[in-house]
Amino acid sequence: MTDPTAAAIPTPKAPAPDILRCAYMELVVTDLKRSRDFYVDVLNLVVTYEDDDAIYLRSMEEFIHHNLVLRQGEAAAVAAFSYRVRSPEELDKAEAFYAELGCPVRRKKDGFVRGIGDSVRVQDPLGFPYEFFYDVDHVDRLAWRYDLYTPGALVRLDHFNQVTPDVPKAVGYMEDLGFRVTEDIQDQAGTTYAAWMRRKPTVHDTAMTGGAGPRMHHVAFATHEKHNILAICDKLGALRLSDRIERGPGRHGVSNAFYLYLRDPDGHRIEIYTQDYYTGDPDNPVVTWDVHDNQRRDWWGNPVVPSWYTEASTVLDLDGNPVATTERTDDSEMDVTIGADGFSYTRKDDEESLPEWKQGEYKLGHQL
Ligand SMILES: [Fe+2]
Repeated sequence: MTDPTAAAIPTPKAPAPDILRCAYMELVVTDLKRSRDFYVDVLNLVVTYEDDDAIYLRSMEEFIHHNLVLRQGEAAAVAAFSYRVRSPEELDKAEAFYAELGCPVRRKKDGFVRGIGDSVRVQDPLGFPYEFFYDVDHVDRLAWRYDLYTPGALVRLDHFNQVTPDVPKAVGYMEDLGFRVTEDIQDQAGTTYAAWMRRKPTVHDTAMTGGAGPRMHHVAFATHEKHNILAICDKLGALRLSDRIERGPGRHGVSNAFYLYLRDPDGHRIEIYTQDYYTGDPDNPVVTWDVHDNQRRDWWGNPVVPSWYTEASTVLDLDGNPVATTERTDDSEMDVTIGADGFSYTRKDDEESLPEWKQGEYKLGHQL
């Protein structure tokens, strides 16, 4: 269990900026052409602008300049998790909030990337490069351009997912930043393995996954419907790119959404996600899942692959240097569920009920 006396992140006296939503991620990629093939030719994200150094991509329903920046670099990494705030004045609040926390803070009136104006970038108390902005170029919203839709069209940026060693500490800080928890995974001893948090009224804008961090676990784009996700799988198969599929398709227990996890040419993990639920009421009930419930991460009981638990992307500080990671000291979700000592159940009060052939799926080394 987490030591409750371990240093929590202090709550600043300065008010938090009013965050609207996750808006875009800036990824460093090692071969821009190869990444373009994946994000544009396979996933059909829309190119807002591109040059020899970077590609700015958006989803079909987006009206701001981009949801994803691919920037050519020496080593794959994440340069920014970017959130849009409610007004330009919120940037002053972001500066003061993080200055009080003692974090590195930078502000650029003309933006850190093309298409975005006045912005604040910080290395937050968990080590992540967070950005806040309001000013942004508007571009054509292609929602009604059905002549441009493809069977697997990505329509919105849905959420980020971050890996951090101490989930309760991360949740405390994110609550100070104005986020609300919608779901989490715990065990009976009270260890928290992951938590989902939102600003916009969906299940999340970001999630904190327990593990060595800070690292980026995935960035997720939404489709309209489940069949759009199946179409992406079919297309990857047809292109002989099925090895881009890491996990799924399936339905999550957490979030109730339909999902698919892909790995891009640098190994950055992308989730395709659809049909979670509304969470905007102030008394929206928090859903807590037992870590041993084998339907929590896949509603159909399919086991999680080990790479999904262990692999994640490096994040950069504000000078572009990789941020060193800290190991998790709480129990690991992989170890307690699919490791040698792990167990999972389908029916809560019937823990011996998994048939023997099914139990093997949750033990490493039992796969053929
Ligand atoms: Fe996700």
